[in-house]
Amino acid sequence: MDSILVKGGAELHGEIPIAGAKNACLTLMPATLLTEEPLTLMNAPRLSDIKTMTMLLQSLGAEVQSLQSGRVIAMSSLGPVKTRAEYDIVRKMRASNLVLGPLLAREGHAVVSLPGGCAIGARPMDIHIHALEALGAEIELKDGYLHAKAHGGLKGARVPLRFASVGATENTLMAATLAKGTTVIENAAREPEIVDLAACLSKMGAQIEGAGTSTITIQGVDRLGGATHPVVTDRIELGTYMLAPAICGGEVECIGGRIDLLVSFCEKLDEAGISITETDRGLKVARKNGRINAVDVKTAPFPGFPTDLQAQMMALLCTASGTSHLEETIFENRFMHAPELMRMGANIEVHGGTATVAGVEQLKGAPVMATDLRASVSLILAGLAARGETLVNRVYHLDRGYEHVEEKLGAVGARIERVAGS
Ligand code: EPZ
Repeated sequence: MDSILVKGGAELHGEIPIAGAKNACLTLMPATLLTEEPLTLMNAPRLSDIKTMTMLLQSLGAEVQSLQSGRVIAMSSLGPVKTRAEYDIVRKMRASNLVLGPLLAREGHAVVSLPGGCAIGARPMDIHIHALEALGAEIELKDGYLHAKAHGGLKGARVPLRFASVGATENTLMAATLAKGTTVIENAAREPEIVDLAACLSKMGAQIEGAGTSTITIQGVDRLGGATHPVVTDRIELGTYMLAPAICGGEVECIGGRIDLLVSFCEKLDEAGISITETDRGLKVARKNGRINAVDVKTAPFPGFPTDLQAQMMALLCTASGTSHLEETIFENRFMHAPELMRMGANIEVHGGTATVAGVEQLKGAPVMATDLRASVSLILAGLAARGETLVNRVYHLDRGYEHVEEKLGAVGARIERVAGS
């Protein structure tokens, strides 16, 4: 297993290109199951999760080609497709459950493994199940698999979500495009990745209104065509790299960055003493002056502060002047980076869903363990500012969501290298 070695203390200067969004690509790819015509995605990120989704779709009989060294994904699924998503793929990546809605819509049945829990939480699927049942599906749990059937096809309906689940909104949105009649998703998730999915589905001929708001209305159609669609910028990668100069000084321009993807996050960075300047190529980020101000953060569904940037923000606040409070409201166990940051000298107390971070002058490098995707990168960020060396182990988590992190940070002056594992 590879590790990443970071030698702290260097200021960062230069440009970091921001890739297409992992969490948009992972819902755009299953949309190929909704049509027999070609669906091509541009600006795709080169990540191991994308490879996992590729394998899953290929196991169902879809043709998926990775072109231009992974930047373009050309897909098509002609004829009947298999409708069983096996546990050994789904357990590796929860987003595999996003084939459920498309398979139900296309074939009228599907057998999809429950993903099982992961490091950050139990990750149940009750919201997905209730939503698809509202569209007329019959879903039964047997031997860890969801067995779903839609006799006579799905029918449009009013679908109130008890929580604005991103994945449940995506599964329901894709299923509703081919349902008979009108579907209204209430309390829908509003993330930019939902807006991107709706834009792509509309190019394929779907009739969708309200994506990006809490109420999405879909008029079902008989069939969808193909499309070519550019994957939206990855706002979580963007936020992560905006924090790099914030944590260790210097000035970095994030190419492709857009403030509208991260309004709440940018407001918090401004409050913490970070300047963000919009340029014609992206966002330029630097500290306004010396220290970072302590701020309080509460994660929430979009447009609130993204849970996927909570760990990275904690890394910044470890050396802020004052005490910060981070409240995690989306996942039940998303503070696993805290004990690792404490090994580096951070002063953090976790009580339930709130972490209290008392700023210290300086972090000290240490060997630390990555536990999940976003925790991994928060340890890298902390290592950039720490005195001495930080060795982040188990970086396979990192490769799921960040393209060549050591290359992107190294290019702006970070002293960082990948150490091949045994
Ligand atoms: C998506 O996961 C993202 N993944 C996550 O990013 C992100 O953290 C999350 O949305 C929240 O923004 C992808 O898009 C591939 P949810 P998803 O359904 O759809 C509970 C990353 O680091 N819930 O909005 O699974 C759930 O347990 C990943 O890139 C139910 O209880 O998130 C969680 O506590 C991590 N029942 C909360 O809702 C359900 O049926 C939010 O989950 C579904 C969800």
